[in-house]
Amino acid sequence: MKLYNLIPAVLLCLGLSAEAQQQKYKLYREPHRPQLHFSQKANWMNDPNGMVFFNNTYHLFYQYYPDSMVWGPMHWGHATSKDLVHWDHEPVALYPDSLGYIFSGSVVADVNNSSGFGKAGKTALVAIFTHHDPKGDASGRIDYQNQSIAFSLDEGKTWTKYEGNPVLKNPGIRDFRDPKVSWYEPQQKWIMTLATQDRISFYSSKDLKQWTKESEFGKENGAHGGVWECPDLFPLDDNGRDVWVLLVSINPGGPNEGSATQYFIGDFDGTKFSSNQTTTKWLDYGPDDYAGVTWSNTGKRKIFLGWMGNWLYATRVPTYPWRSAMTIPRELSLRKIGTEYYVASKPIENYNLFAEPPFIAESFSTTKFNLTDKVKKLKGPARLSMASDQIKTFSIVLSNSKGEKVVIGYDQQANQYYIDRSEAGIHDFYNGFTKKSVAPRIAQGNDTYLTLFIDNASVELFADNGLTVMTGIFFPNDDFTNIQIEAPEALKIKSLKFNRLQDIW
Ligand code: FRU
Repeated sequence: MKLYNLIPAVLLCLGLSAEAQQQKYKLYREPHRPQLHFSQKANWMNDPNGMVFFNNTYHLFYQYYPDSMVWGPMHWGHATSKDLVHWDHEPVALYPDSLGYIFSGSVVADVNNSSGFGKAGKTALVAIFTHHDPKGDASGRIDYQNQSIAFSLDEGKTWTKYEGNPVLKNPGIRDFRDPKVSWYEPQQKWIMTLATQDRISFYSSKDLKQWTKESEFGKENGAHGGVWECPDLFPLDDNGRDVWVLLVSINPGGPNEGSATQYFIGDFDGTKFSSNQTTTKWLDYGPDDYAGVTWSNTGKRKIFLGWMGNWLYATRVPTYPWRSAMTIPRELSLRKIGTEYYVASKPIENYNLFAEPPFIAESFSTTKFNLTDKVKKLKGPARLSMASDQIKTFSIVLSNSKGEKVVIGYDQQANQYYIDRSEAGIHDFYNGFTKKSVAPRIAQGNDTYLTLFIDNASVELFADNGLTVMTGIFFPNDDFTNIQIEAPEALKIKSLKFNRLQDIW
C-alpha cells in the first residue's frame, strides 16, 4: 500500500475532520504535482529565499504571490523541514509594504548579536532582502530597488522590519538586488554579495545595518546574455584549503535558452573576489534550474536548492492550482578535472526513502532493456542509477500509454548529455519548449555513473557523479509508466539500480 493511502486514517487519528482529510488528500495529488519536490499549496512561487539552518530545522522562504497563479506583488512564503525532504508549510513571513514588494534575499542566524536584534538570549534570524518599489519602476526611475532587513526572534514565524530601512540605498543602478549575506570569519564581518545588473558587487558590514562597498566582479567575466541575479558566495574544501565559488544566475542567456546559473571558481580575501576562469561553467545545464543558492549556517556543508523553472514559460505551465516547484536539494563539492576545478552536485542522501525494495541488475550487456517488466509500473517518483565502464551512446526513455515520452541520454559523437522533451506531452504554452537541451560531458574517463531523479513532471540527471547536471520539467497527458534503456551498440552495464521512492506529501 502506498503511504499516502494511509494519510486519511492517520489524520483521523489526529482528530482532523473528514473534510480536512479529503482536502489534504486531493491537494498534492493533482495532475503534474511533484511528489518528490517542494511546491507551495497554491498560486505562484519562484526563487528560493532566505534558506537558513537553525535549531535543527531547515528554513526555506520563497518568492510567493498568494493571490494569483502568475507573478505579482512578491511576498516571502515559508516552509520548514527537519530532513530537507518532508516540508511543513508555515504562515507567510514577509508581506509587501510602503517600500515595495519583497524580492529575493537571504537569512542569517546572528549568533553574536551583531545587529542588536537578539533579546533575552534569543538569537535573531535576520532577513536581508530587496525592496522593489513598483511605483518607482512605473514612473521611469531606475533607483527603485533597495536592500532592507527584518528580524525574527521566534524562528522565522513572525518578523519585524527594521525602522531604518532601506539599509543599502540604490546608487542609480536599474537592477540592484538579491543580497546573499554570509559571515566572513577571518575579519569578523558580514559580506553581502549583490547582483548589480551586469556584475556582482560586494559590501561589508559589522552590524547588518551599515554597509560599505568593497569591490565588484564580473563585468568582463562569464556569460552576459541577460541580467545577473541571485548570487551566492561560499568556500568549498579542497584538502583543507578553501576554494571560493561564486554562483550567478542569469536571465536570459542560459546554455539552453532562458534562465540558468553559472559559477566562477576563484579566491575571496574578505574584500575582493578574483578568478582566472576562462570558460563559462554552469551548475545545471538543463532548462529548469534557476535562482538557486545555498543554505546558510550549515558549516562546511553547502546545500543548494534551485527554482525548477525558467522565466521563458514559468508563468504559463499547465498546472493548477499552483505553479512551480523547487529542485531536489543538492550537496555541492569541488572536483578537479586536469587542472580545472568544477563544482559537482549530489542529491542529498535523505532521499533514500524507498517505497519498495530496489530492482538491481549487475554486469550485463544490452541494446534494449525494458525496466517496466522488472519493476511493474514506474508510476510515482523514482531514482535510477546506472554505472558502466564504457562511455557510449545510450538513452533512457520514459513513456506512457499515449505514446508520449521524455528521453534522457548521452550522445557519444557530440560528447553530450541531453534531455529531449519534444514528445513529452503538453507544450503549446511555449513554442521552444520542445527543443532538445544538451550539456557537455565534463568528465574525462571511460566510465560513467549517473543518477536520475524521476518525478511526475520533472527529471534531474546527475551524470558522472554530478559533474554534468540537467534538470527538465514536462507535462505528459498520462503518467510515464514505462522505462526502457536503449543503445545502438550493446552497452555494458556494470550495475543498474531502480528505486521507487516514497512521495513526500
Ligand atoms: C529571479 C528574480 C530575482 C528577483 C525575483 C523577483 O528569478 O528575478 O532577481 O528578486 O526574481 O521575484
